[in-house]
Amino acid sequence: MKLLVTGGAGFIGSNFIRYLLGEHADAAVVNFDKLTYAGNLENLAAFAARPEFRSRYRFVRGDVADPEAVAAVCGEGFDAVINFAAETHVDRSLEDAAPFLRTNVVGTQTLLEAARRLSMQRFVQVSTDEVYGSAPDGVAFREDALLHPSSPYAASKAAADLLVESYVRTYGFPALILRCSNNYGPYQFPEKLIPLTIANALEDKPLPVYGDGLNVRDWIYVEDHCRAIQRALLQGRVGEVYNIGGVALRTNLEVVRTLLGLLGKPESLITFVEDRPGHDRRYALDSTKLRQELGWLPCHSFEEGIEQTVRWYRSHSDWLARCRSGAYRDYYERHYQQRGELLARMRGKA
Ligand code: NAD
Ligand code: DAU
Repeated sequence: MKLLVTGGAGFIGSNFIRYLLGEHADAAVVNFDKLTYAGNLENLAAFAARPEFRSRYRFVRGDVADPEAVAAVCGEGFDAVINFAAETHVDRSLEDAAPFLRTNVVGTQTLLEAARRLSMQRFVQVSTDEVYGSAPDGVAFREDALLHPSSPYAASKAAADLLVESYVRTYGFPALILRCSNNYGPYQFPEKLIPLTIANALEDKPLPVYGDGLNVRDWIYVEDHCRAIQRALLQGRVGEVYNIGGVALRTNLEVVRTLLGLLGKPESLITFVEDRPGHDRRYALDSTKLRQELGWLPCHSFEEGIEQTVRWYRSHSDWLARCRSGAYRDYYERHYQQRGELLARMRGKA
């Protein structure tokens, strides 16, 4: 099985490559990634150096929105493409949506077109629960729910999903779409809530919580997501959409308090900041289809997964520090400056 994984230097893609090659001795992966601020070859360095994986893993730097680069890599011949490549951070999409449209929409179409021309046998689009928008209390969205994205990020992912569906309907192209909830675990870039909270708390810095902190997310340990992708890749029906939910609905405040408890840090670090514009209140997915058709169940409870995650970040403080240097610091400061007085307070602590 020869796979093209796009965006494999990011959080979920790198976890997926490690998982898949560990599970399938006959699999080989080409990781095609632009290496944006979120792409980090360090995420796979130790793994790629191991003799048992060296011959089955290769990195190619490239942009999914560049038709020539995509045609060249696809021309190597693959059994399947798994498209993780994306701009992924909602807050950044509120500041500048252009890179989101380019990578998430044009990039997906560019990949679809190259794969279609080469009659590729399978295309897995890694999508998100954000395409459904906010779920009212008591509702968990099924795959046939309307798409109602709130942020430019979510809209770009919804557009990509629609393009995938158009290729299925128009050309009979063998693609399927996976919509997952919020992932957490090792190697997540520390702009996202969980690694950001851990990193700030370890340095006794304020923990920015948007609005009233009562927005709900459905958390899934990244390895459970990777296993669902593997199942869908091997056994999923083309033309179908599968939701992948963690069934660990928590408010952001609950998540932050859990992390503080595990880290032994005081709740006084919690700092409420201005809310994210258009902030979806609640995400919740119904994953019955995935469970029934593909026999998938999450293996990690939130309590166990989050403990493991805290241990991982504690033991990878160098990785965390490198992620939080340079351009990241500039982004972070600019971003939180717009969120009231937090920055001044952080400088006071520095
Ligand atoms: P990430 O931001 O950690 O990584 C994204 C990767 O894509 C990076 O390695 C980056 O360099 C690469 N990339 C960006 N633009 C590219 C381009 N033009 N060409 C090639 N590579 C490019 O993201 P993640 O959290 O690992 O998310 C991976 C996928 O999963 C995304 O499609 C995202 O929408 C989806 N998803 C994420 C979550 C989550 O909780 N993180 C949940 C559901 C779905
Ligand atoms: O739901 C799946 C999505 O999860 C993915 O599609 C996205 O790519 C991924 O980034 C993630 O989006 P979120 O916006 O939910 O993740 P984030 O970690 O940015 O925020 C999680 C929640 O925490 C959200 O309600 C906003 C809040 N938050 C976030 C940050 C960064 C805070 O309160 N403070 C923060 O500093």
